Parts: sequence; C-alpha cells; structure tokens
Amino acid sequence: MLKKKDLYTVAVVGATGAVGNEMVEILQERKFPVSELRLFASERTAGERMAFRDRELTVELLRRESFLGVDIALFSAGEEISREFAPIAVSAGAVVIDNSAAWRMDPLVPLVVPEVNREAAASHQGIIANPNCSTVQLVVALKPLHDAARIKRIVISSYQSVSGTGKEAIDELMEQTRALLAFREAESQVYPFQIAFNLLPQIGSFDEQGYCTEEKKLELETRKIMGDPTLKITATTVRVPVFRAHSESVNIETEERLSANEARALLATAPGVLVYDDPQRSVYPMPLEVAGTDLVYVGRIREDTSLAHGLHLWIVADNLRKGAALNAIQIAEELIKAAP
Ligand SMILES: NC(=O)c1ccc[n+]([C@@H]2O[C@H](COP(=O)([O-])OP(=O)(O)OC[C@H]3O[C@@H](n4cnc5c(N)ncnc54)[C@H](OP(=O)(O)O)[C@@H]3O)[C@@H](O)[C@H]2O)c1
Repeated sequence: MLKKKDLYTVAVVGATGAVGNEMVEILQERKFPVSELRLFASERTAGERMAFRDRELTVELLRRESFLGVDIALFSAGEEISREFAPIAVSAGAVVIDNSAAWRMDPLVPLVVPEVNREAAASHQGIIANPNCSTVQLVVALKPLHDAARIKRIVISSYQSVSGTGKEAIDELMEQTRALLAFREAESQVYPFQIAFNLLPQIGSFDEQGYCTEEKKLELETRKIMGDPTLKITATTVRVPVFRAHSESVNIETEERLSANEARALLATAPGVLVYDDPQRSVYPMPLEVAGTDLVYVGRIREDTSLAHGLHLWIVADNLRKGAALNAIQIAEELIKAAP
C-alpha cells in the first residue's frame, strides 16, 4: 500500500527502452513528486547515462536487491522480467505498475485506464497492470459510448506503429528505409518480413483459430477494463511502417440508437479524448500529428448505414505515451491522490 509522502522514490525498470525512456520524460514533464529516480536495465545498457531534471543519472543493472527503499516501481522490460521481479519489488515494499502482459489477465491484478476504471486500482495487492497499447486508446474512446448506448459488438482493424515493438523495431524501419532508398537490400531481424513499404497482418503468434496474440489482447483486456464480459469483440491487427502512434478503424453496434452527432457530443466532453472530426475540411487524426501528444484522437465518426444501431470511428493515439508510459504514470498519480 502506498503511504502519503511529499516525495517518492521511483524506479523505472527497462529505462533505456522505448517505453522506459518516455516514462523518464513524462515524470519530468508532469513534475511527478520524485525524491530519487532509479533507472534499471540489463547488462546491455547498464552504465548508460540518462538526463532527468537537471541531472544525469546512471542506469543500473537490475538485481534482486534493486527495490530496497523504492515506493513506486514502473516496469517496462518485458513479460519475463515482470514475472520474476514484480513480486520481488512488492516484497520490498514497492507498488508495481507493470506495462507487460505478465499480470494483465490475473483476476487478482487490476487492469487500469484511469479515464475508464480508476476505481479498480484501489483493490491492488501490490501490482497494477497497464493494458496493451492498442487496448488503452480503444477503451478511452468507447467507454462514454458504452455508458450511453451499451455497445454489443466491436470490430477493430488496427494500423500499429513499429515503436509498439520497441527500440529495435524503430531502428529496423529506419535502417530498411535507408537501405532501400540507396538501392541496397533490406535486412529483417525483428520482424519476419520487411516492414519498410509493407504491411504485416500479424502481431504476436497465431492461435489454433487463426487469431494473433495482439487480437486476443484487445478482446480480453477490453472486456476486463470495461467490466462487461458480454461484449463481443473481434479484431485484425496490422503492423504498418509508421514510427509512432497506433490507428484503429473501429465499428460498433449498440443496443440503443446513437447518432453520429450524439456520439461526437459525448466524446467532446469525455476525459482524455479529443474529437478531431471535420471531414469536409480534411480534419481527421493521423499518426504524424498525434505522435508526441497525450490525448486519444477520434475522427471519421459516422453512422454505419448497414446497421440499425451502428457507428464507425477512427481512433489514433501515441502508443508510447497514452498507450504505455503516460497511462502508467497517471495510475501512479491516482495512487498518490488516494494514499492515506
Ligand atoms: N512499445 C509500446 O508501445 C508498448 C506499449 C505497451 C506496453 N509495452 C510493453 O512494455 C515493455 C517494454 O517495451 P518497449 O517497447 O519499451 O521495449 P524495448 O524498447 O525493447 O525496451 C526494453 C527495455 O527492457 C530492458 N530489459 C530487457 N531485458 C532486460 C533484463 N533481462 N533485465 C533488465 N532490463 C531488461 C531493456 O534494457 P537493455 O536494452 O539494457 O536490454 C530496455 O530498457 C514490454 O513488456 C512491452 O510489451 C510496450
């Protein structure tokens, strides 16, 4: 349990990664009440220096003893590390906010997006899970519509940037683009195929029904966060050669009728959402504009003419910020607000 203090000792595990880097920046930007920031990674980058406020901090090698005195531990170093080290951090007295998939579907671990289910965080037993990036932006945009008209079915097609895979994938897209424009061959190491000038309709591995892990995460995590096991959800997730920000084409069927204008009005006052929707003036969200921002952008809101009660939406958010680091830090801010 986090105790109220003026300032907190914060650890970032996986600090040198795509999400970890963003966490350090956001802690600084939001003036998070940090007394000491401790940065951890593997032997690959331990010893590197990272700027925080007006100081340079040295990244340390992650060890079992790393969590002594830590109040809040932000994990973003992959599932294996979270499974092994999150319980160690909790035993040392820290509250863990975990970005990996390790604990998300554990019934004892709350899966939290503050705009949607901030109250769930209160039931934590040391670990709080941060959802998958593609889920976060989906639920922020859909919760107000669900509350107003009860969503029965969601069909998602995603267009996900390479930063969702991590720093090596960002380098791979950069390198492949450079190579191909210089008439050299593109090498693929992170992805099974060339990602530059291509689309990969696979994120994760396939199950026996033909769904990949990212598609199942969208389905299961959305139901858990929205607190509605009856929601029908189906997805096709695609990796696209975009560096940052995920886009989703989303079709919903609702129980009550909701016009496009009503949906726009609901979303205009929804927390964390920016309605960016004026198609006649070509105003709609695009990853290049949304990258580096904090809100979930929603555009192309229109009624589905093939259904009695259906809507289309185009939802874009920065996967490293609202999809990962920012959401984790917002959870930490909620914990601080509620701390006795
Ligand atoms: N990218 C996203 O949009 C996103 C969104 C939501 C959730 N996530 C989740 O966040 C986690 C990190 O993702 P990422 O995109 O930031 O990956 P990344 O860029 O590959 O970074 C991974 C980080 O973890 C560290 N790490 C790896 N193995 C380690 C070990 N054995 N001990 C200590 N540190 C270790 C790395 O340090 P070294 O370089 O020193 O090995 C690096 O700092 C993953 O679980 C991912 O699923 C990512």
